[in-house]
Amino acid sequence: MTRIVYVGGRYVPYNSAAIHVEDRGFQFADAVYEVIEVMGGCLVDEAGHVDRLARSLRELAIERPCSTPVLAHVMRETIRRNRVNDGLVYLQVTRGAAARDFLLPEAGLRPTLVCIARRTDPMKIAALAEAGIAVITMPDIRWRRSDIKTVMLLPAVLAKEAARKNGAREAWLVDAEGYITEGASSNAWIVEASGRIVTRPADERILSGVTRATLKDAIKQAGLELVERAFRTEEVTSAREAFNTSATGTVMPVVGIDGKSIGDGRPGPITRLLRAGFHRVAQISSN
Ligand code: PDD
Repeated sequence: MTRIVYVGGRYVPYNSAAIHVEDRGFQFADAVYEVIEVMGGCLVDEAGHVDRLARSLRELAIERPCSTPVLAHVMRETIRRNRVNDGLVYLQVTRGAAARDFLLPEAGLRPTLVCIARRTDPMKIAALAEAGIAVITMPDIRWRRSDIKTVMLLPAVLAKEAARKNGAREAWLVDAEGYITEGASSNAWIVEASGRIVTRPADERILSGVTRATLKDAIKQAGLELVERAFRTEEVTSAREAFNTSATGTVMPVVGIDGKSIGDGRPGPITRLLRAGFHRVAQISSN
């Protein structure tokens, strides 16, 4: 249960935590965010997430809400106050509150920083990974700067809801040329029949996942071959294995797409190996 939230410079009880009605995050989705895994009370790949947050802010010319050491402290304090051992930290930074105007306000607006720490159930996630998940494909209707982690998530909300209605856990998004871009909230990977691992290059059409970056190191360390190229839906059905990566699921086996099995319909050995070794390669922060 989340008990205390950090918002606008204070730790406040969850039920009374609020932002201003004219916060630009609320009115224009003029805001960016991060989700960071917490394992044993420690942040996983904190530096990668903090760097990406800084990049998202830079790309949109939103001021940084605080220094990196202060942000590190806020995350740790929010974890501590909510007694999160295994779970996640959600960070959101909006441009701040100002009278509604499409034009960017004068410089000097104070960004809003929100930090939420929440427990997750590692057993539930492990059980999902043990069975593998199904995905559906959906047209990628997002804007063309998916490399910036903004809170404009309505396309992802609708795609994930469609997945749920179809008995799947995730939607893999397909661009106008028929190539998979990424999952609604994850990066998409396949293992070719040759054993080569394939994922789309991190261009402006996908989020450059922090889990994806760590997994690239894990793949290298395991002596496996990685190719960064776009792949089509048909390739997924004929792939040997498939999986997703994200901070919330790390390496999650994908065993079906649009109602068709991938491989033998069970998590494959390469996916299992990468999932098992992931946290050995990831950076685990001090408390
Ligand atoms: N989503 N692609 C998209 C569109 C995402 O939203 C995410 C993460 C990823 C994976 O990035 P990372 O490995 O850094 O978590 C890829 C988070 C988990 C979320 O929105 O909840």
